[in-house]
Amino acid sequence: WSRVSSSASCSQTVHCDPMYFIMLNLPVILLLQLVPGSMGKDGLCHCVVHLANDLIPLKKLEQLQSTAQELMDKYDQELLRVSEYTCTTEGQDNQVLEMNGEAPIYNLLCLQLERPQELVTWLMAKGGLSESVTHILGISFPQVANASLILKLLADSDQHDLCALRQEVDSLKDQLRECEREKEEVASGHSGPPLPPGSCDHGGLQKVSRPFVVQLNWRGFAHKAGTWGRDSAPSPDSSLYWVAPMTTDSRYFDYYQMYKSYDDLVLMKNYEKRSFGYGDGSGNTVYKNFMYFNYYGTRDIAKLNLSSNTLVLRRPLPSATYNNRFSYVGVPWKDLDFAGDEKGLWVLYATEESKGNLLVSRLNTSTLEVEKTWQTNQYKPAMSGAFMACGVLYALRPRSTHQEEIFYAFDTNTGRERHLSILLDKMLETLHGINYSPLDHKLYVYNDGYLINYDLGFQMLKHKPSKLPAEKFSWFPIAPKSVKPNKTSSP
Ligand SMILES: *[C@@H]1O[C@H](CO)[C@@H](O)[C@H](O)[C@H]1NC(C)=O
Ligand SMILES: *[C@@H]1O[C@H](CO)[C@@H](O)[C@H](O)[C@H]1NC(C)=O
Ligand SMILES: *[C@@H]1O[C@H](CO)[C@@H](O)[C@H](O)[C@H]1NC(C)=O
Ligand SMILES: *[C@@H]1O[C@H](CO)[C@@H](O)[C@H](O)[C@H]1NC(C)=O
Repeated sequence: WSRVSSSASCSQTVHCDPMYFIMLNLPVILLLQLVPGSMGKDGLCHCVVHLANDLIPLKKLEQLQSTAQELMDKYDQELLRVSEYTCTTEGQDNQVLEMNGEAPIYNLLCLQLERPQELVTWLMAKGGLSESVTHILGISFPQVANASLILKLLADSDQHDLCALRQEVDSLKDQLRECEREKEEVASGHSGPPLPPGSCDHGGLQKVSRPFVVQLNWRGFAHKAGTWGRDSAPSPDSSLYWVAPMTTDSRYFDYYQMYKSYDDLVLMKNYEKRSFGYGDGSGNTVYKNFMYFNYYGTRDIAKLNLSSNTLVLRRPLPSATYNNRFSYVGVPWKDLDFAGDEKGLWVLYATEESKGNLLVSRLNTSTLEVEKTWQTNQYKPAMSGAFMACGVLYALRPRSTHQEEIFYAFDTNTGRERHLSILLDKMLETLHGINYSPLDHKLYVYNDGYLINYDLGFQMLKHKPSKLPAEKFSWFPIAPKSVKPNKTSSP
């Protein structure tokens, strides 16, 4: 570790130049004191240099060397761990990584990657590393930086994706809750099992579905007034459907068609087209295979045998006004409005004595005599129509060109009335014939030439718990739990 000067004048004091030493791979410049040299046997001049202990911190250099080695070992460990995580992460590529609060697993990895990066930077800045170490670092540093960068990108994109996913799931959960709510509404309307045909085991009308458009009436769009429906006597054997569009002036009932089934009606086949005299308005109803209507120009109730298309009976309804006297609003000539339900055959009308308020009378179907009459306090021309279900009168009024409201109910079983508000959407402005069928609990409505129907929902008597626990539907646990690999142990 000496530089040999020329052999000449060895005995003289040799002026040793400042010398370069490579010690422990660290360049050290030493300023040597002038020392006398001596000629050896080999003819070379030897200088003995005494190094002051405090001049070169050898111990410190050794410490630095060992520290560097330790750091390198740690770095290697970190690198190994990172590559393990990378493998783990790649393995979980298709799995849903759950979030730990706001920091996904990637953030953790990034933090772990930052440490070796800092270490490498520090070591590089420090300089004086062995060639092999510098070489390793030279290769590793960009790799670590790259891995870190990739992880950051991955974390960002992943967080973004997770946020989008979480939003989507939130919105789906909202939709599900909405759906569940609607289902509950329907479930509390109809009972769990659907209401059996003809059953009155419920607490009254609660809900009306959206309208279902079946088709345009068979006589065409010009026949805006009319009526249609099923046989309203609760007989499961009867699958009869009938359609009776009025004349184009919306006054007379003159033709009707009968279909043996709903399919026949929709496909317009296997029908029987009948003509019969005249009736006034669209108050017709069919009950136990007979059609009841207001014989034109009179207060008479007419009973038509549908099997033979013959008039069986005709009888005046006492005091009833007729000839468009107290008609429903927007629906002319419907002075006598017939209705069938689970409890029998009814006629809705007004008299001068009732001052135009609506009367409800139950009829004896054999004799057409009035069995009993109930008077409501509702002005008939303020209503747009009415129907009976389980002996309860439900009255409608228009709210707009697109909505009708069932606003009033009168229970003939109890003689009590109540106000309610059940909205019905309608396709066109005027609901002409309105007929209820106890068989399927539907409302058959003739809407300005179109045949439409509604499902009626009734209040359950016994409340059954239909509410499902909310947790059952959070099948995507997002916030509370976080899954961390067990290997994670932050030093
Ligand atoms: C960083 O990673 C990308 C993708 O794996 C690769 O194409 C690129 O060469 C890498 N850069 C360095 C410096 O390693
Ligand atoms: C209805 O018409 C059918 C077929 O003509 C007949 O058999 C039945 O007795 C009639 N019913 C009444 C009540 O007139
Ligand atoms: C209808 O009236 C007739 C004759 O009064 C009677 O025999 C019959 O029982 C009544 N029908 C009903 C369902 O009350
Ligand atoms: C993770 O640790 C928990 C408890 O600390 C243990 O029950 C579970 O089996 C571990 N999972 C793995 C994959 O090692």
